[in-house]
Amino acid sequence: MSDGRTLLDELAKREVIICGGAGGVGKTTSSAALGLALAHRYGKKVLVLTVDPAKRLASALGLAELGSHPTCIDSLVIPHLSEPLRGSLFAAMLNVKDAWDQAVQRYADSPQTVRRLIANPYYQSMIETFVGSQEYAALETLFQLHASGEFDCIIVDTPPSKNALDIIEAPRHYSDFAGVRLISLLTSPARVGWKAFSFAAAPVSKMASRLLGSTSLAELIDFVEGFQSMNGGIQKRARSLYALLQSTRCAFIVVTTLEDVQFGEAEMFTYRLRELGMHLRGVIINKCLPEFLGAEDMDNVVMHARSPEDVFAGMPASTREICSLDAVENVSEMVQLLHDRAVLERKLRSTVSHLGRAAVVNVPLLPRDLSNIEGVVEIAKRISPQTELRDG
Ligand SMILES: Nc1ncnc2c1ncn2[C@@H]1O[C@H](COP(=O)(O)OP(=O)(O)O)[C@@H](O)[C@H]1O
Ligand SMILES: [Mg+2]
Repeated sequence: MSDGRTLLDELAKREVIICGGAGGVGKTTSSAALGLALAHRYGKKVLVLTVDPAKRLASALGLAELGSHPTCIDSLVIPHLSEPLRGSLFAAMLNVKDAWDQAVQRYADSPQTVRRLIANPYYQSMIETFVGSQEYAALETLFQLHASGEFDCIIVDTPPSKNALDIIEAPRHYSDFAGVRLISLLTSPARVGWKAFSFAAAPVSKMASRLLGSTSLAELIDFVEGFQSMNGGIQKRARSLYALLQSTRCAFIVVTTLEDVQFGEAEMFTYRLRELGMHLRGVIINKCLPEFLGAEDMDNVVMHARSPEDVFAGMPASTREICSLDAVENVSEMVQLLHDRAVLERKLRSTVSHLGRAAVVNVPLLPRDLSNIEGVVEIAKRISPQTELRDG
């Protein structure tokens, strides 16, 4: 059932909204549309923070670039509204490197460690390649922005659901942080005698570096030590992050299309949410075909369309003159395809309750691809029919 008001009422109570789902289902568009609807109908100051490196949010908003600093986009949306914007809408894109640098500044034990760590090549490659680095950066950024109290609501637009899952798993990884554990092991003299290689044993380090043909060992040691000094801070933050994500201040929504694979990913996402004690508050079923196409009473009509010769024969002679049998056959095929697809959608729709108890909104497949602000406004209208948005 389409219930935009219930969904928005539900989301308007939250400070953080995390939007998950498979790739291409419309998460970025829906995040921006929800932000617009919440800003407009509820007068909220909303930030849409995208973790998707694909720059889709920037293009959906008609911006050439989107930085990590929240940008007010009121002037972009106001021309599409039929009454003044009550709240305010901001957008920002996660910058993984900046987020990590800030984390280092926050958690490292001294300004010298901060400087050394940030300049260290191992640190830089860890940010780029370490599994979970992006998710950790996203959560750090979210936490900081949330703690700043600058926005009433922050909507996080995640990359495809495997990554969306990574996001919700991230605090767990960090409270049991494999990297930190490994590093602790390496720096624990009692366990592996690594200290023998550390700064206290410069000649050994120099020798090893010569053998390695570079200074990489010294840099590795420096990285390990610097990173270990952050361990306590990271663990503490992981616990606070978990508490935020599990609290009623945070709502998760899942966006899905009524296709097997995408719906399966949505199920997986919501299943993990339940296991982790996080709250699913909304389901957006996007790109839906009109329900009548899959309705049972359409079967007879479609059966009729299956005999294009009969349809053609039944047409007035004047119509047959301007319409070939081929064209009628094509239309027949199209009707069949749409009907079959709509029947599949109907079947999946009947299992939506498997995703959990949450407000469900249907958003129709728009007749054209609107990868711009108009698309966002269109989707906002569908999510929230009460939102007064200017047509066209
Ligand atoms: N209801 C819709 N009808 C038609 N096209 C849509 C609809 N919702 C989203 N799209 C289009 O689908 C594409 C993917 O949307 P996007 O929001 O980037 O998905 P995701 O963030 O989940 O990867 C975009 O081109 C977008 O304009
Ligand atoms: Mg996206």
